[in-house]
Amino acid sequence: MSHSAANLLRVEQVVKRFGGFRALDGVSFHLDPGEVLGLVGPNGSGKTTCINVISGLYPPDGGAVMFEGRPIGGMPMHMLARRGINRTFQSPKPFLSLTVRENVEIAAAYGHGPGRAAPDLRALLASLELDGLAERAAGDLNSAQQKTLDLARALATAPRLLLVDELAAGLNPAELLRMAERLRALAADGMALLVVEHLMGFIDRVTDRVIVMNAGKEIFEGTLATATRDPEVIRVFLGGAHG
Ligand SMILES: Nc1ncnc2c1ncn2[C@@H]1O[C@H](COP(=O)(O)OP(=O)(O)OP(=O)(O)O)[C@@H](O)[C@H]1O
Ligand SMILES: [Mg+2]
Repeated sequence: MSHSAANLLRVEQVVKRFGGFRALDGVSFHLDPGEVLGLVGPNGSGKTTCINVISGLYPPDGGAVMFEGRPIGGMPMHMLARRGINRTFQSPKPFLSLTVRENVEIAAAYGHGPGRAAPDLRALLASLELDGLAERAAGDLNSAQQKTLDLARALATAPRLLLVDELAAGLNPAELLRMAERLRALAADGMALLVVEHLMGFIDRVTDRVIVMNAGKEIFEGTLATATRDPEVIRVFLGGAHG
């Protein structure tokens, strides 16, 4: 396991408090180009908060977030998008009255930074099977399609680091398989991905390794196969909200 300063992303002892409550209580991990890291854990364990801090929605209250060797903790989301970090949302909020194509164009115009090739938006929509919906209002899409549009919006900024939050929830088995293949293809092209997901079949298909979180702390790092044999992981999953 690499611990060099050259990691694309380094999360070092990050703390995020809401009032007196520590949603993140000293979380550390790293991620490199072409790698898919899964982030799993019970409801409320801090997975979305982790994405929120890395993507700049919240500043960390302690620790450091390093991207390409530089500290980014506290930088706002639009600046991080231009630096090459983008994310999807657990509950996507597209501009409902705008078309699918307009939503993606806006993301590309505002979130795309210098030094990265602008993606071909038509090809992007086609690759996500949204081309047939390009002129439809985002508000007309079903929830699975809105999640795919949210991914298109993030990819329109050509991120080097993509954070996805429960993208697979609500997809049917065929859609799940296609989404898993898409994420693997992005990693094969050199993108780094952090994937938050409750569906273990999807995590197994997509990730190279996983972090298991509980109550704002990382309790395991390694392969999913090893995680499922780890006594503390088993205790947390069987004894928690999913029991
Ligand atoms: N903006 C906020 N204000 C106050 N508390 C928050 C806020 N965001 C998250 N929390 C709390 O922090 C904890 C972690 O929440 P988070 O959304 O990160 O969990 P999660 O692991 O993504 O859960 P889920 O699997 O249900 O999506 C929860 O107790 C949550 O209530
Ligand atoms: Mg969440």
